[in-house]
Amino acid sequence: MKLRKGDIIFIVIVVAIFLVFYLISGDVKTKAVPRNAQHQQVYDMLAAGKSKSDIDLVCVTCHDGVNIKFPPDHPVKPTGGKMSCHLCHRMS
Ligand code: HEC
Ligand code: HEC
Repeated sequence: MKLRKGDIIFIVIVVAIFLVFYLISGDVKTKAVPRNAQHQQVYDMLAAGKSKSDIDLVCVTCHDGVNIKFPPDHPVKPTGGKMSCHLCHRMS
């Protein structure tokens, strides 16, 4: 089978659309919760079926803004009440 020029243009457009969706999904900018020793317990909770809003309470025991600082431009501040980390930092 030989690809015609029109087919190639079509494929390029489809790929470009998917790329745009991927870039605006936010996943590209916000870091995922790393899979390492510090974060093993939160992944264990997730595997045990704990809800993600319960897991968020564990995040702030370490990420309290004092021992581990947030970037200065972090969208939510550590004193601003309940923080829904999981909405922006995915766990996978
Ligand atoms: C046992 C303590 C602990 C818990 C609980 C914890 N973290 Fe962390 N986290 C750390 C440490 C330590 C680092 C590395 C900090 C540094 O490099 O300054 C880190 C780094 C990160 C990073 C940055 C990763 C990177 O690639 O730079 C993100 C995002 C993060 N944590 C999110 C979370 C979220 C969301 C939760 C809750 C689901 C969580 N953490 C729970 C200790 C913890
Ligand atoms: C409204 C979205 C949002 C929420 C909610 C949020 N973050 Fe973030 N976070 C970001 C963005 C955006 C950045 C900057 C981009 C990046 O480095 O991931 C960031 C950066 C970070 C970093 C630094 C990553 C690095 O570069 O080392 C850590 C650690 C972190 N967040 C932890 C948390 C924790 C813990 C919570 C919950 C207590 C939380 N975040 C809640 C959006 C969010």
